[in-house]
Amino acid sequence: MKDSARGSWSGHVGFVLAAAGSAIGLGNIWMFPYRTGSNGGAAFVFVYLAFVAVVGIPLIVAEVMLGRATRRNPVGAFRILRPGSGWQIVGWLGVASGFVILSYYGVVAGWAMDYMWASASGALMAGTAQRMTEAFDVLMGDPYRQVGWQAAFMLVTTVVVSRGVEAGIERASKVLMPALFGLVLVLLGFSLTSPGAPEGLAFLLNPRFDELGWSGVLAALGQAFFSLSLGMGAMITYGSYLEVDQSIVRSAFLIAAADTCLAVLAGLVIFPLVFTFGLEPGAGPGLVFITLPKAFALMPASSFLSTGFFALLTFAALTSAISLLEVVVAFFVDEFQWSRPQASWVAGGLIFALGVPSAVVGGFLDAMDGLASDWMLPIGGLFIGLFAGWTLGGDEARNGYRGKGSSLAGFAAWRFCVRYAAPAAVGIILVQSLVRFVRDFGG
Ligand code: TRP
Repeated sequence: MKDSARGSWSGHVGFVLAAAGSAIGLGNIWMFPYRTGSNGGAAFVFVYLAFVAVVGIPLIVAEVMLGRATRRNPVGAFRILRPGSGWQIVGWLGVASGFVILSYYGVVAGWAMDYMWASASGALMAGTAQRMTEAFDVLMGDPYRQVGWQAAFMLVTTVVVSRGVEAGIERASKVLMPALFGLVLVLLGFSLTSPGAPEGLAFLLNPRFDELGWSGVLAALGQAFFSLSLGMGAMITYGSYLEVDQSIVRSAFLIAAADTCLAVLAGLVIFPLVFTFGLEPGAGPGLVFITLPKAFALMPASSFLSTGFFALLTFAALTSAISLLEVVVAFFVDEFQWSRPQASWVAGGLIFALGVPSAVVGGFLDAMDGLASDWMLPIGGLFIGLFAGWTLGGDEARNGYRGKGSSLAGFAAWRFCVRYAAPAAVGIILVQSLVRFVRDFGG
């Protein structure tokens, strides 16, 4: 298949924006703050940053490199590099992960859209702060409303992806990413001037290692994978549209920095407001959908703030969902020569259907998330690291790594990380997860 039919980014900026858009999502604004809140504040953030540096950035480089060198989806990339080997299975696992993750991701993004709508129309803020728990339970108990928003969200995602790499994905990222940063800054202005700001900052910046524990460390690694869109070939796919001869490392640092920045900023928006109104910072997954709206309801300009926040969440989710769908679409386009629109609508439709149980069946969403975040992504990431570190020969790796501004010392450091550090970290965590899994379910 000709590359011109696959499409490509207009340049380096387009690629970095789209990849940052993939990384910045529900993981940053929804999960990162609640996980930080319930795992010892800055203690969690420190461990998280260490994983980003040692595992995250090297694996972004590995994925982008595999994509750029082969110009293929994850399955095609491994096939071209090692034809007839078992490595293709890693690509298949990645495409399957795209299905699984986007299925429930669309449901949660649908909640964000529902809240955005309810905030803008005033319906949400008509309730008192005490009512916010109820408001969330009402949404959870209404499968039609959930599936309706999920369908709307998947529809927008599919339309963008069907328009192509530059005209669809890149163009959407160039509008949504600046909007996202703008929204965060406006919200930050409100939160940092609220009375609870010092307490909120202290909560985020004070490490409480006794609250971290081993499960917190596990959560930090899972969070790094999920937030940086790693372990399933999303970055392979985005790298496959890269033509410019830029240093991949520099892009990887930019992507990781933007992603981390937005996660911390989300925390800086949320915790001061939570403390201003004496709410519970360690509320878990309900932090954004229950605790935060309680704070909004007690503030002046509550509708405005709440609409802004849930618009932020929706925009962030959209650029991420686009990248998840793109992995599956690139697979159909490359491997079966489907047209992009056909691949987009078929994949978008199937993933929507697969997501319905997450909206309707209690516990299903968490099970899908556990499957993807605890198993599929780390296993995928482990093998992508091993492939880049051990299977690729020195010259192959050097050629793939090379770009304007890349150095030999950087290459050596990267190769060390993908050879030893990343597989060791992921391996230990996987073994631990396995032990826990056997203990919990084995008897
Ligand atoms: N990184 C996104 C987030 O934080 C989610 C995401 C998009 C993702 N693409 C991915 C996660 C690929 C894993 C793999 O919300």
